[in-house]
Order: sequence, then C-alpha cells, then structure tokens
Amino acid sequence: MPTLNWIGKEAVEKHHLEIPYRLLEYDDTYSTGDLESGNLLIQGDNLHALKALLPYYTGKIKCIYIDPPYNTGEEKWRYNDNVNSPEIKKWLNEIVGREGDDLTRHDKWLCMMYPRLQLLSKFLRRDGVIFISIDDNEYANLKLLLDNIFGTQNMLASLIWEGALKNDSKFISVSHDYILCYAKSKEHLRVNKTKWRTRKEGIDEIYNEVEKLRQKYGEDYDQISSELQDWYKSLSKNHSAWQHRHYKMVDKVGVFFPGDISWPGGNGPNYEVLHPISKQPVKQPKGGWRYAKYETMLDEMKKGKILFGEDENKVPNVKRYLHETEGQVLPSVIYKDRRSAMQRLRSLFDSDVFENPKDEEVLLKLFEAVTNNNDIILDSFAGSGTSAHSVLKLNQLDEGERKFISIELEEDIAKNVTAERLKRVINGYEVKKQNGTLEKVEGLGGGFRYCKLAEPLFDQFGNVRDGVTFKQLAYHIFFSETGVPLKENSRLNTPLIGKYKGKAYYLLFNGILGDKTVNGGNVLTSKVLEALPKYNGEKIIFGMANRVSANRLKKEQITFKQIPVEIKTS
Ligand SMILES: C[S@@+](CC[C@H](N)C(=O)[O-])C[C@H]1O[C@@H](n2cnc3c(N)ncnc32)[C@H](O)[C@@H]1O
Repeated sequence: MPTLNWIGKEAVEKHHLEIPYRLLEYDDTYSTGDLESGNLLIQGDNLHALKALLPYYTGKIKCIYIDPPYNTGEEKWRYNDNVNSPEIKKWLNEIVGREGDDLTRHDKWLCMMYPRLQLLSKFLRRDGVIFISIDDNEYANLKLLLDNIFGTQNMLASLIWEGALKNDSKFISVSHDYILCYAKSKEHLRVNKTKWRTRKEGIDEIYNEVEKLRQKYGEDYDQISSELQDWYKSLSKNHSAWQHRHYKMVDKVGVFFPGDISWPGGNGPNYEVLHPISKQPVKQPKGGWRYAKYETMLDEMKKGKILFGEDENKVPNVKRYLHETEGQVLPSVIYKDRRSAMQRLRSLFDSDVFENPKDEEVLLKLFEAVTNNNDIILDSFAGSGTSAHSVLKLNQLDEGERKFISIELEEDIAKNVTAERLKRVINGYEVKKQNGTLEKVEGLGGGFRYCKLAEPLFDQFGNVRDGVTFKQLAYHIFFSETGVPLKENSRLNTPLIGKYKGKAYYLLFNGILGDKTVNGGNVLTSKVLEALPKYNGEKIIFGMANRVSANRLKKEQITFKQIPVEIKTS
C-alpha cells in the first residue's frame, strides 16, 4: 500500500501515546440550558482534549465530523488557516524540534493532523463513521493518511460539495470541496445490512398542502390533484418540494405519481388484463408487465395500486406513493450555496463573526443518515459550532436525544462564537429584518456544558495529582487496564469499580472506610479486604500499599497493583 512520508513524521507517529491524560474542568459561565444533557463544548487543543476524553468515550462515538484548517495559507481569518497559530507553532517546535524550522506548510499540516486522527480513530464505534471536510490543498495528503489510519477497505466515499461559482477566477473556478468519509468497519456495516437514509426534504410541505386541499374538497381527488399541480407550479425551483413535483396525484391512500408498469429492461410477461369499466383487454406495455404472474397483478389491482386510463387504449400505471419512499440515499454530490450558511450566521450575530462556516443543514443530513436517537457526534475542530447546531436541530426535528462533543482551540472563538451561537440557538434569538423590525426565532432547547482543559491526572513524577477524585482515577484505571470505558451508569459508590472479561477491578483511593489515612482504606489490609464487595473470580486491586500475605492474595485470586507506579499512564 502506498504510504506517505513527510518531514517530522517520525516525531509525531507515536506522539499521541505521550500526551498526558488531563482533566476537564467545567466553566459554567459559558454553559447554557440543560447542564445534564451530556453535550460538551471543550476549549483547548484537541490533541489534549481528545486524550482527556479517551477513558470516557473510546469506542462510543457514532459519528465524527471534522473540518480542520484547509491550510490555504490564510492567516487573517478569525482562526489561522496556515497551521501557524502560536499554540500549534509552539507545539511543533517542542515535538518536531529543530527540524521544525524546515517544515513546509504541508509537513506542518501533516504533523498536526496525524496524531489527532490517530486519537480520533479510537473513539468510533464498530458501526461508526468519520466525515472530514477538505479541499485541494491537502486532499491528496489527507486521503493517504486516512487510508493508513482507517484502512483503504473502509473508505466509503469522497463526497463533493458544490458551492457557488466565482466568476473572478483566473483559470478555473473551483467551486467545490470534499468530504472524505470512512467507516470504522465497512465489513461490520455490510454484515449488519446497514442502510443510510435521510428523509426527503420538502415532503412535509407537500403533506401540509394536500391536507389543506382535503379539508377544502373532501374526497374530490381530481380537484385536489389539479390544485396540487397548480401549487407546484407556483413554487420557485429552489423550494425543497419542487424536486418532488412528479408526486402530482392524490387518492384516499395518499399522494403518488403514476409509475411505469413494464418489466425492467424489457422481455417481461404478457397476459390479458381487463379494464375495470369497459371490461376490454387493456393495452400492454411494450416490455411486458412488471409482475411475473397474473395473480400478483390481480392482487395489486384489488389493493387499488393500479391506475387505469379512461378506457382500455391506455397502458395502465402503477401508483408510487410518497409515503412509501420517504427515505433518500445520501448523494455523493451536494449542491448547496455556501453563502446561505454565512448569511444565517451573520443574522444570528448581527455581524460577521466567523469566516466560511459550514452549513448546518448539510451536516444535519449527514447526521440524520448515519446516527440514531441517542448517538454521540464528535467534532474536534468546532469553529463556530455548526455541527453542534445541526445536532440540536436534528434532535428537535425527530425528537432525538443525540449528544454532541465539540472542541475548539481558540478561547476567543470558543467563548464568543461557539458557545454564544449555541446559547442563542438553544434559547432563541431575534433577527433584524431588512425593514429594521425584529423577528423572533424560537429556541431549539437542550443545553451544553462548557469545559476547559485542567492539569494532567499525574504530575511530572508520576504521582496522582492533589484534587483528583475517586471517579476520575477509577475511569482512568479501568480504561488503561481494559481498553474500554466504564459503563456510563457505573455508580462508583464502592471500591469495586467494574468488571471486564471475568476480572473485577477495585480501587482503594481517598478512603473507603470513611477517613483518608492508610487505616481508612487506601491500603489493602485484611480488614479492608473483608469490607470489599465480594467477587468470585480474578480480582485486580489498586491501592497505595498492600499488607496482605502473598499466600492469601494467591488463594483469593488477587493481583495487587500499587498506586501510582503500576497505573498505566499512556
Ligand atoms: C475550518 S474551521 C472549522 C469551521 C467549522 N466547521 C464551522 O462550521 O464553523 C477550523 C477550526 O478548528 C480550530 N482548530 C485549529 N486547530 C485546532 C486544534 N488543535 N484543536 C482544536 N481546534 C482547532 C480553529 O480555531 C478553527 O476554529
């Protein structure tokens, strides 16, 4: 398999393993709404934030969407699109060292992306998927990185997003960018017969219109169909219902279009079918009937699914109802003018606060296709918070309870753009209209917690830092021992923190018998051992020291591990 080389690769290849596990600290000044929603906005370098999240979310994320800097060389935007922000520059110098001075802008970008993608890949569930926005500047490099990290066999598509044409380009107006899409395991999706579908846009408007016409004309379906067609004609081509204008007829079952009744590809069966009124054999389709047996055709006629002409001289049609095909496959080419997202963000803030935000309606469609009600969506280059906005909007549309985790490096952006945007869309806001009046936009509801990165769990000597709680250490130990996070509903009110593959894990920390001294339970003594919840099998017990004899440990299938030296920290 082709692999990519760049200056600094060796220095970053294993770098994600050296990143310390840090704690996250809430700063509720910037949180909004329901703080228990599970939604997080984390301010800080995603390399550290992702590492901090690993013990909690490894293998739990259904969908990752990221929109990293495209490396256009633009440094004047609100964020740095040249991998040259002071934080990243400092980081590169520390990690790649003096070599860092010679890095081209592509080397720098690759050094920045590689360890982050390595971490991101660990978060995906078996049925998870990652989408990455990118343009020609780094497309080829990114593709090879992803092949390397996720495997070529897991590539699903390279979506193309066509924005608006720029007429001032010297050579070719490049009006598209890409969204690369990889599965954690394409094979898993295949075996589970996974199908991704989104709800067709505009169909609710059609249902509403038909309902209005039904109220007006009762069961006069000819009149309803005729007025429905007039309604389609009145729509602009940009209206989302316009693309479904072939659903132009209505009967008591629903809205439908008259579909082809012939055998796909021709050479289908021929048999006589009588017209229901004239009782004469109707004209047959050139390719033969689409139903192999006459009995099936009769069944469909009884169900009212065959649409006959006025007499036998017209080939009948089959009724294709809208409600039978509400799902739509994700297209690999997306047409959506970029300016509309920009305008919506501008009107939300009443000023320009962020360059080139992505479109929450486009991301919503991706999330709708690949996630279910309770899934978690992660975005580690959050920018103005578009992906989180999409999650909130999608939840409101289908009453879902998806959660988002968004990470943004720049404090100014995280507080004043990302958090502020989410606050406004959650609580509702007012938009200034062209005539100067204010229009209220209803809030989507929900909430999120704002956090920042705190100190690492362990100090430079490997000691557990003061202030680390039982829960924090328990999550770390369970994850570093087993590679999987503790269950979300773990109560952690006893030293038995969890079980995995036949082993039980115990933590003696901060005192289990009331006080925090050695006698209080941080040391494994006979008295403490008696007090531990029983488990009939192999036990791993973490504590400050052990005073139980080796014989007894062996007899009771206990492996004692000393805090902090035997805790894995990378
Ligand atoms: C292209 S923008 C994302 C725009 C976003 N999709 C939107 O619609 O608003 C990239 C964002 O990633 C942030 N970023 C860059 N490096 C980062 C890092 N190491 N950790 C977290 N965020 C980072 C930048 O500050 C910037 O806001």
